[in-house]
Amino acid sequence: MILVTGGAGFIGANFALDWLARSDEPVVNLDKLTYAGNLQTLGPLQGDRRHIFVRGDIGDRALVTQLLARHRPRAIVHFAAESHVDRSIHGPDAFIQTNIMGTFNLLECARDHWMSLTDEDKAKFRFLHVSTDEIYGTLEPEDPPFTETNPYAPNSPYAASKAGSDHLVRAWHHTYGLPVITTNCSNNYGPYQFPEKLIPLVIHNALAGTHLPIYGDGKQVRDWLYVGDHCAAIRRVLQSGKPGESYNVGGWNEKPNISVVKTICATLDKLRPRNDGHSYTDQIRFVADRPGHDRRYAINAGKIERELAWRPEESFETGIEKTINWYLNHGDWVENVTSGAYRDWVTRQYGTAE
Ligand code: NAD
Ligand code: TYD
Repeated sequence: MILVTGGAGFIGANFALDWLARSDEPVVNLDKLTYAGNLQTLGPLQGDRRHIFVRGDIGDRALVTQLLARHRPRAIVHFAAESHVDRSIHGPDAFIQTNIMGTFNLLECARDHWMSLTDEDKAKFRFLHVSTDEIYGTLEPEDPPFTETNPYAPNSPYAASKAGSDHLVRAWHHTYGLPVITTNCSNNYGPYQFPEKLIPLVIHNALAGTHLPIYGDGKQVRDWLYVGDHCAAIRRVLQSGKPGESYNVGGWNEKPNISVVKTICATLDKLRPRNDGHSYTDQIRFVADRPGHDRRYAINAGKIERELAWRPEESFETGIEKTINWYLNHGDWVENVTSGAYRDWVTRQYGTAE
């Protein structure tokens, strides 16, 4: 079996659902259920004996040690993190705590577990650390996309905390021999993304008839990766990636924010036209820029294609249409995660809401 951390969040839950749709290998899913974690996303796995959900903190050494001893996973796929740049600017503490201290704790528990394995199982064990392209900092318009050898130059508290975790993961391999692999991916989008990130926020606000906020001039560029493609990349890396290596994962889809928002508006104009016949672009508003806003991220995903034969299947056009259709058909999910009803339920169920 495998241990997934952060598997009630956007990418982790997509990963757990996809994993169990493709194989019977059980998943132990450790998640703290912060505002970003949602058990409703894992609803299809309710009652499924292959999925064991545990509410808890990756920083809880006793809990993680106990889980590893009980389930003896052959791999840990580490998604759990505080993940939103704007939140990291307002309150970096949780980012340092979870992304750096939590990863440190997980590595120490993983090392103890790995040391207890037979030589054969030791060789097969993997600690897969899911990280971000934001650790490379920002690019000028003419710069080539990030490769795995770009220097680390994180600019936001979020990016710095992820960079810190990447360095720990690297050191645990170099010093202790723990078979780690790091993936650095670009901006994900797709079903079940909390509507604080650009794409789900714009879909949600458009349908709610409110403003679509664009930071600064909207010419910042991101590379967009459909979450299903990302999950496939992680499965491939887990299967065939080389311990000690890192792999950039991207969608080959560089887009300025303003063009992403206009594409969403045009797709909604087609699929769910406004009652007044106007375009959703009328709702666009340029607002104050994010402090320290990185201008451009771009991923060269050539290494993972050459070495592990992975390439994304979705273009931005196909992926965004799938995503918008999903949000149109899952208003209940969005309503639930934004209404506070979910947090009330977690409080009732677990005693506390983070
Ligand atoms: P998310 O914010 O949607 O989900 C994070 C999950 O981690 C939540 O379920 C939350 O409850 C859980 N969590 C937070 N702190 C925890 C703790 N201390 N212990 C246990 N669980 C905890 O994030 P996401 O978008 O799914 O991102 C997953 C991973 O991918 C993160 O490591 C993130 O840095 C990385 N990443 C995300 C993107 C993206 O575009 N979303 C891009 C690059 C990298
Ligand atoms: P986001 O989804 O927060 O991801 P990240 O900051 O990790 O790249 O933001 C994507 C881009 O969209 C980023 O350049 C910031 C911009 N943005 C807006 O212009 N308006 C918004 O309301 C949000 C949330 C983001």
